[in-house]
Amino acid sequence: MTDRKLHGEHMLTEQGKAEWESRNAQASALAESPYKKDFPLLSHNPDLAFLDSAATAQRPKAVLEAQKRFYEKMNANALRGLYSLSVRATEAINGARAHVARFIGLTGKHDARDIVFCRNTSEALNLLAYSYAPTVLEPGDEVCITIMEHHSNLIPWQQACRAAGAKLIYMYPGDDGLISEDEMRAKIGPRTKIVSAIHVSNVLGVANDVKLMGQIAHEFGATMIVDGAQSVPHFPVDVTDLDCDFFAFSGHKVFGPMGIGVLWGRHELLDAMPPFLTGGEMIDAVTEQDATWAPVPEKFEAGTQDAAGIYALDAALTYVEGVGYDAMQAREQALVAQCMRRLSELDFVRIIGPADPALHHGVVSFNVCTIHPHDVASILDMDNVAIRAGHHCAQPLLAHLGIDSCCRASLAFYNDSADIDRLVEALKHVWSMFHGYGFARPLPHLLPDPKWGNFQKRRDGDITPLWAWQ
Ligand code: ALA
Repeated sequence: MTDRKLHGEHMLTEQGKAEWESRNAQASALAESPYKKDFPLLSHNPDLAFLDSAATAQRPKAVLEAQKRFYEKMNANALRGLYSLSVRATEAINGARAHVARFIGLTGKHDARDIVFCRNTSEALNLLAYSYAPTVLEPGDEVCITIMEHHSNLIPWQQACRAAGAKLIYMYPGDDGLISEDEMRAKIGPRTKIVSAIHVSNVLGVANDVKLMGQIAHEFGATMIVDGAQSVPHFPVDVTDLDCDFFAFSGHKVFGPMGIGVLWGRHELLDAMPPFLTGGEMIDAVTEQDATWAPVPEKFEAGTQDAAGIYALDAALTYVEGVGYDAMQAREQALVAQCMRRLSELDFVRIIGPADPALHHGVVSFNVCTIHPHDVASILDMDNVAIRAGHHCAQPLLAHLGIDSCCRASLAFYNDSADIDRLVEALKHVWSMFHGYGFARPLPHLLPDPKWGNFQKRRDGDITPLWAWQ
C-alpha cells in the first residue's frame, strides 16, 4: 500500500493550502459568500437563503464528485472480494477511517481501528445504549445527561435506564445558558455510571464544557460520551484533549453525505463490548449454534457498508481542512452576530438563548410574537428563506424553557449577509401578513399578554426574556 492510500486520497496539498488561503482572504467581507459557488445546490438557487444547516448542511461539489467517482471507478463490495476492484473499495474505506481519526485528533498508529462507521449520530448513540450500557448499568445506577439533549442522546438512555432499572438524571443550564461546574458536581456522583452530553446544543447553540464534565465523570469512575453532531461542523474537536471515552458525529452535518456517521471509542471499551448488529462481515467464525466476533471496528459494522458515502465523507473532511476552521469560525461568528443584531431590531421577534453571540455556535433560535413557528417557517418559505421550526427534537429542553416550539435559523460559513437580509425582510412580511399594521410599531401593550408566553414565559411564570438579546 502506498502512503497516499494509507492516508486516504483526499489529502490537502501545499498548493491546495495556498489556494485556500488566498480564497479565505476574500471571505472576511460578509456581503457575498465566496464559498457558495462550491455548493451546487446554493449556486443553482441564488435566491434561496438556506438557514437550516444544523438540520443538514449542503455538500460541496468535491463531495458529490467523490461519491460519483466511487461508483464509476471503484464500485465493488469492500472487505469481501479478493480481486483488485474490491481491494480498491476496501482501501477507500480504510483511507477514510485513517482520515477521520486524524480529523478528531488521534495520532496513534493504530487509532484508525477505533473509528466505527455507522449511519449517523443516532445510530452511534444507540449502539452505546444497547451494547455498552448493559455491561455497566445495574439497578440503582445513574446515567447523567443534560436537559438540552437532542432526542437521539436522550431516548436511548431512557431505554437503557428502563432496561437496567437505572435512573436518568438531568443537568440544567443557568440563565446564561451554560451548565455550571456546581450543577455538574451536584448531578454526577458515586452512583453515576455514564455521563452523555451534547457538545453543542442544536437549539441554543451553546457549547457545553464536556472536558470538565468528563473530568468529573472520571473522578467517579463513570464513562464520558460526547454527542458531537453540532460541534464538528463548527470547531475543531480533539478527543485526546477532551479526554472523553466515546465521541459520535454525523457526516451530513459536516458537509458530507447523509447516511454516514462516526463513532469513536477507547479501544479497550470497544473491544470488551458485545456487537450491536449482527450478520455479515462482523464475525470471526460461525458454527450452527454459535459465533465469535471480528475485531473492532468490523465487529460493529455488520452488512455492506456505504463505501461510496464513506469515501465522500473523506472528501468532505478535506474540504473542511481546505477552508480551515479558523476561517469558518471567524465568518460564522460574524454572521451570527449580524443575524442577532438584525433580529433584535425587530420588536416582534425574541431571540432564545444567551445574549452573547459568541456563545451561539451557528444557531439563532427565536420566536415571533403571537405567531406559531410553523406559520412563520411556511411564510418564510414563500420568500425562499429556509429555516427549521418546531421542537427541534429537543422537547424536554423546550418544556424547561416554557415553550413548545420555536424558529431556528442556523448558519454555516457559506452563508452571507444577503441571506440575513432576506430573513429579516421575510420576517417583516410574516408580521404584516398577520398584523398588517406596520412592523416598526412598538408593542409594549403586548408584553404582559399570555400569548407572549409561547416564547417568553418560564415555568416559574416569569415573563422576562429568555436570555434574550438585551
Ligand atoms: N438534529 C437536526 C436538527 O437539529 C436534525 O435539526
